[in-house]
Amino acid sequence: MSAHAKTIEAASPPDAGADFEAWAARRAERARALVERHTGAWLTPGSPLGEAMHYAAALGGKRMRPLLVWAAGECLGADEAALDAAACATELVHAYSLVHDDLPCMDNDVLRRGQPTVHVRFGEAMALLAGDALQTRAFEVLTADAALAPALQARLCGLLAGAAGALGMAGGQALDLGATGRRVDLQVLRDMHARKTGALLRASVMMGVACAAEREPALAAACEGALRRYADDVGLAFQVVDDVLDASMDSATLGKTAGKDAEQGKATFVGLLGVEPARDYAQRLLEQALQALRELPQPARERSARLAELAQRVVARSH
Ligand code: IPE
Ligand code: IPE
Ligand code: MG
Ligand code: MG
Ligand code: MG
Repeated sequence: MSAHAKTIEAASPPDAGADFEAWAARRAERARALVERHTGAWLTPGSPLGEAMHYAAALGGKRMRPLLVWAAGECLGADEAALDAAACATELVHAYSLVHDDLPCMDNDVLRRGQPTVHVRFGEAMALLAGDALQTRAFEVLTADAALAPALQARLCGLLAGAAGALGMAGGQALDLGATGRRVDLQVLRDMHARKTGALLRASVMMGVACAAEREPALAAACEGALRRYADDVGLAFQVVDDVLDASMDSATLGKTAGKDAEQGKATFVGLLGVEPARDYAQRLLEQALQALRELPQPARERSARLAELAQRVVARSH
């Protein structure tokens, strides 16, 4: 057994593996169905915008952000309807971020999830608009369900907007463009990755916590600090691993163009440290994330196995 398999075992009950895979498959399907429902409304014949939105959001992806929303919320006893809205909204913002990331003025990518990118398929203008509309749809989803308390709706909108905006993903993407072709130090790279990718993953966990705070305010407050540390580590690890995969896998496995970071002179952990040290760094972030889960108070600690498994999945994935 590898060292990190042991670490996971320590944070999970003995039968967590099989249970986790079945749970994750069910939740990923639920995320797909929710996104399908919320983009399907635009899928009218002759509406290229609707088709582009649906193509970008409903047809694939690992659904990591929704899985984090559900794992965090269920760990703390959150209401299901609130978690559904939060999970769907994170995936819509994520899908929008990929459409814009692939545009010719950004990474100029032609392949995503094994298919032509949205702008290749629908044209640049439609890709731009589909990204815009997916983003705004996310906030509609968060505010459409009258069963969600208005204060919770506002809190979820605030968390998601903060993660997507200038201090989060959009700001991180701007740093990414500014760093292209330049050598940046570790601190700058860490900040850039934490913002461009980590912020939305972190918000996913914290939106799960916010949903739980409605029903279990004391438990949610007691767990918030440790879960934020977990989310920061998992969020950063996600992009470190993305850098490693870009440099070490083929396009067929990734479903996106391999080797493009080096080709485009992107600032990455692989560029700065090399592949193996970057892998080791992701592993250290995983250990830290698992340690944060061990510091949760009960009963959250004993319910945190899925969060532990998700952190493991982020680091062990092949695409
Ligand atoms: C890819 O995200 C872009 C990054 C933020 C690194 P994912 O790897 O989660 O993409 P999908 O949704 O599974 O395709
Ligand atoms: C993207 O990072 C981060 C986003 C905010 C979408 P990358 O540019 O490395 O993502 P991929 O490799 O294209 O999926
Ligand atoms: Mg990019
Ligand atoms: Mg890219
Ligand atoms: Mg990448």
